[in-house]
Amino acid sequence: MSAPELNSIPISARIQTIRRLTADTALFRLQLDGDRTFPFIPGQFVQLSVPGGGEVPISPADLPAVDGTIELCVRRFGHVTSLLHRSRTGDRVGIRGPFGNGFPVDAMAGKDVLLLAGGLGIAPLRSLLFHLLRHRSDIRSLTLMYGAREPAVMLFKDELLELATTGSLRLLLTVDFLSDTGQAEPACNVGLLPALLKGVQLEPGRSCAAVCGPPALYRCTIDELLLAGVAEDDIYLSLERRMKCGVGLCCHCAVGQLLCCCEGPVFSYRDIKNIPGAL
Ligand SMILES: Cc1cc2nc3c(=O)[nH]c(=O)nc-3n(C[C@H](O)[C@H](O)[C@H](O)COP(=O)(O)OP(=O)(O)OC[C@H]3O[C@@H](n4cnc5c(N)ncnc54)[C@H](O)[C@@H]3O)c2cc1C
Ligand code: FES
Repeated sequence: MSAPELNSIPISARIQTIRRLTADTALFRLQLDGDRTFPFIPGQFVQLSVPGGGEVPISPADLPAVDGTIELCVRRFGHVTSLLHRSRTGDRVGIRGPFGNGFPVDAMAGKDVLLLAGGLGIAPLRSLLFHLLRHRSDIRSLTLMYGAREPAVMLFKDELLELATTGSLRLLLTVDFLSDTGQAEPACNVGLLPALLKGVQLEPGRSCAAVCGPPALYRCTIDELLLAGVAEDDIYLSLERRMKCGVGLCCHCAVGQLLCCCEGPVFSYRDIKNIPGAL
């Protein structure tokens, strides 16, 4: 099957497992029909269709698997995602894609790499994290800074702590506030994510950062990254826009003159800093 055909016709898949992560977020492992593989670059997205609902853009949360499975971490938000959350294992869905550019993993070679995830932004960055860990010798250092609202909604915490024990990854976790009990969370700072960057000094040209999270995160994080010495070209931001066609036809996802579905969703700060409304 040729690439354009692959992108416009959904591939049928069966929900293999559903792992509830928090009250409103779950990790869905899909088994593609025919055990076909689904290659993608971390940061690209798929259009997930739920029968009777419609399509939603979702970024895979793991790496392309040889066994024909794909993992999507989905928060219950509106119509389609609520329908998905009511699904059971064995139910069928469809996926089209992959779409967009993804993170420029080759440009990260030889660098100190910082991943900054806010809230659900950890989903696409988990895929990038797995990729970088698999190719760890290609980069100089790897740091993940991940901020969540409160301990109860921090995703993949145990998995991340375990990965950090290997020594391949420096992990900094933070929560905006503690839970009602006020009980201190081991291995977790309290404060906003950009605060973790205060005082960090990186070598311009030898460092880069990938940021994914809610829109409010971007402005203050960018200022701190620039102060820390990361060049504008080396700050990669994943933008979330409303997607429909996913292939540059409907303009639903326009960011100024740029189309988020094909020229993004990952942009360098330099590319979008002068586009009104981009950030
Ligand atoms: C590239 C990309 C990757 C994404 N990756 C993930 C992921 O890994 N996990 C995940 O849980 N979610 C992800 N999302 C967000 C997800 O696509 C939306 O939560 C989903 O489309 C909501 O659909 P719904 O039918 O449940 O809600 P709807 O019923 O369509 O929407 C509920 C409300 O949200 C508004 N809305 C819907 N989508 C958007 C949007 N994209 N931007 C602004 N407002 C919107 C609607 O206007 C409406 O007011 C991603 C989005 C993009 C663009
Ligand atoms: S989603 Fe249609 S042009 Fe981008």
